[in-house]
Amino acid sequence: MSKVVVNNLKYRYPLTENLAINGLTFEIEQGELIGIIGRNGAGKSTLCAALTGLVPHFFKGAYGGSVHIDGINVKESKLSYISREVGIVFQNPFTQMTGAKETVKEELAFGLENLGVPKLEMLRRIEDALNLLEIDHLRDKNPLELSGGQMQRVAIASILVMHPGLLVLDEPTSQLDPQGTAEVFRAIKKLSNQGMTIIMVEHKIEEIAEYADRVMFLDNGKIVAFDTPTNVFSMNHLEEHGLRPPVFTRVCKGLGIRDLSGLYPVTLSEAVNEVQKFNESD
Ligand SMILES: Nc1ncnc2c1ncn2[C@@H]1O[C@H](COP(=O)(O)OP(=O)(O)OP(=O)(O)O)[C@@H](O)[C@H]1O
Ligand SMILES: [Mg+2]
Repeated sequence: MSKVVVNNLKYRYPLTENLAINGLTFEIEQGELIGIIGRNGAGKSTLCAALTGLVPHFFKGAYGGSVHIDGINVKESKLSYISREVGIVFQNPFTQMTGAKETVKEELAFGLENLGVPKLEMLRRIEDALNLLEIDHLRDKNPLELSGGQMQRVAIASILVMHPGLLVLDEPTSQLDPQGTAEVFRAIKKLSNQGMTIIMVEHKIEEIAEYADRVMFLDNGKIVAFDTPTNVFSMNHLEEHGLRPPVFTRVCKGLGIRDLSGLYPVTLSEAVNEVQKFNESD
């Protein structure tokens, strides 16, 4: 639900020479699902840290420019305040469990108890999150005995119950099998359809092409492109920045199959569509 405004953001970690983030300016509207892509070291996780306030409140170093979330300047707010507005989910679902709770339901109650949310409100939020993420059947299971995809959805649910306006996910599916990956992407799309603003770092480019409203392509701490998946993956010279476009785009580029405006398909269904038109025109 939050709007994000970033203006000329620069950041250098302590005791390092190069800027990890080097002059980012962009806006994200409420309810957008943004995929962040780019090779190792591009600055993706650092940007996540700047959106969640870990930069500069936890990681010190040199900071310039600004990040505003719903008009709140992250640098000038307390980390405890920002962390209520912005939830973050990391790679490894296991490390995000408290490890102290016997059931999924108790796991989800944990953060809310700390906030002092009244019991009835707490139960309502937990039920909503369980339903939304399609894990209601797991409510009485031990969180540590779930599959990766299930555990990651519990991790997302434990953030959701806090009602953040912005959800940031840093490679949430990198340790999951294809089924777990599909479960997490489906859940994220559902949240996005409900109006949540979502920013997701992901190396799985085919999924990003399919699910993201816009793709931010980072290299060397800078934005190479920030546009729809079709526009970004149709660009030339992507490989020079260490990016392999989706397999469907690569195949169609190789065959010279593109739409009337010269853009290449990025998903399977788009590719099938263009190939059919291509065949018909023969
Ligand atoms: N804690 C840290 N201290 C010092 N330098 C760091 C730290 N974390 C990251 N960096 C440096 O900042 C730059 C950006 O790193 P970052 O982790 O944001 O990249 P990334 O795009 O998330 O990469 P990956 O795909 O490997 O996760 C890199 O040059 C990295 O070496
Ligand atoms: Mg990273």
